[in-house]
Formats: sequence, C-alpha cells, structure tokens
Amino acid sequence: MFVAQLGPANAAAFQALRLRGLAECPTAFASSYEEECDIPIAKVAERLAPRVDGAILGAFKQHELVGVVGLQRETPRKLSHKATLWGMYVAVDARKNGVGRALVSHALAYADSQLQVRYVNLGVNALNVAALSLYEGHGFARIGFEPCFMLVDGEPQDEIHMALALEHAVLRQSKGL
Ligand SMILES: CC(C)(COP(=O)(O)OP(=O)(O)OC[C@H]1O[C@@H](n2cnc3c(N)ncnc32)[C@H](O)[C@@H]1OP(=O)(O)O)[C@@H](O)C(=O)NCCC(=O)NCCS
Repeated sequence: MFVAQLGPANAAAFQALRLRGLAECPTAFASSYEEECDIPIAKVAERLAPRVDGAILGAFKQHELVGVVGLQRETPRKLSHKATLWGMYVAVDARKNGVGRALVSHALAYADSQLQVRYVNLGVNALNVAALSLYEGHGFARIGFEPCFMLVDGEPQDEIHMALALEHAVLRQSKGL
C-alpha cells in the first residue's frame, strides 16, 4: 500500500470512492451523495489540480484507490496557521489494515511540510467510534462538542471538534510514540 497526492488523472477513481463513502456513511460527512453525484468528472479534475492551500491524498493497494483524505488551509490571513482535515474514507474491504492510519500520518506530514500550518482541525460524528479512535491515536484532542451539528434524514447528529498542534505531532513521532 502507498499514499500519494491525487491529481486530475485520478478524478474518476476519486469521484467513485467519494460517492461510495457519501452513500454508505451519510452521518460521517457534511456533504451528501445527492449533492455530489452529478458533479462532472471535469469539475472533479479541477478540484484535484495542484494548488498551494490544500491537497487530496489517496491510498492505493495494487494501484487501486482504496482510501482518501483531504486537507485545506484556512484562507483568511489570521487563520492561515490552521488547516482542516476532511473527507476521510477507506473502502469497506480495505479497513482494519492500517490504511486510515497511513492517510492521517501522510496528511499531517503534508500539513507540516507543505502547508506549513501549526494546527490541524477536524470534526467527527460523536458516535463514530472508529474515527475518534483513529484521530486520538495520532494525538488529536477533543476541543468541543456541537449538538445537532447536522440533520441526516431529519435526525440530529452531534459533532466532536478535534485539534492537533503539529509541534506535538512531530514530538510524538520523534519519540516513537
Ligand atoms: C474511520 C476509518 C477511516 C478507519 O480506517 P481504517 O483503515 O479501518 O483504520 P486503520 O486500520 O488504519 O486503524 C487505525 C486505528 O483506527 C481505529 N479504528 C479503526 N477501525 C476501528 C473500529 N472498527 N473500531 C474502533 N477503532 C477503530 C483504531 O484506533 C485503529 O488502531 P488499531 O488498529 O491500533 O486499533 C474507516 O472506518 C472509514 O472510512 N469509516 C467510514 C468513514 C468515516 O467514518 N470517516 C471519518 C469521517 S470523520
């Protein structure tokens, strides 16, 4: 398995996996299958074009895209020391095999070396035990709880906001923790 930054050539594979995730786990994402299923591949390719303020990373197994995660640096100057990790998804048959962990590790390295931010923030559905455990394993701390962050089929979904100071992430790596 390897992790690489996706580009326009990966648009069709990325869109297929993204739509699988949105359809399979509507409570894990703020976006929805219905909002994204008609986006033309050309638009998806534009989203994957190289840029300075973010990237989408993909995990490949035997050259098949099995996992994705996005990173986006905040635009306002006073917030540009932070990035948001979004869109984490691993295909069902590739799970529990270290793919999610590898994607988060690469995303944090990218945030540090390419985006040069100090903090990475993210949001997780409060009932998503697997994702909470994945992020806490990388040192993310729970910094907030938002009741009724979103409604899915009319059902309120609570969100846990998490943050990681990258200097702590680097320390954790250098100590081999
Ligand atoms: C959350 C998700 C990305 C984990 O991916 P994965 O490739 O299975 O994760 P890994 O195999 O790398 O596991 C890394 C850690 O995640 C946690 N984890 C993964 N699956 C778990 C599960 N079913 N229950 C509890 N913890 C779990 C564990 O801490 C694990 O470490 P361990 O193996 O030492 O116990 C995957 O389950 C997924 O795509 N879920 C649906 C979409 C989603 O919830 N996205 C997150 C949106 S915030």
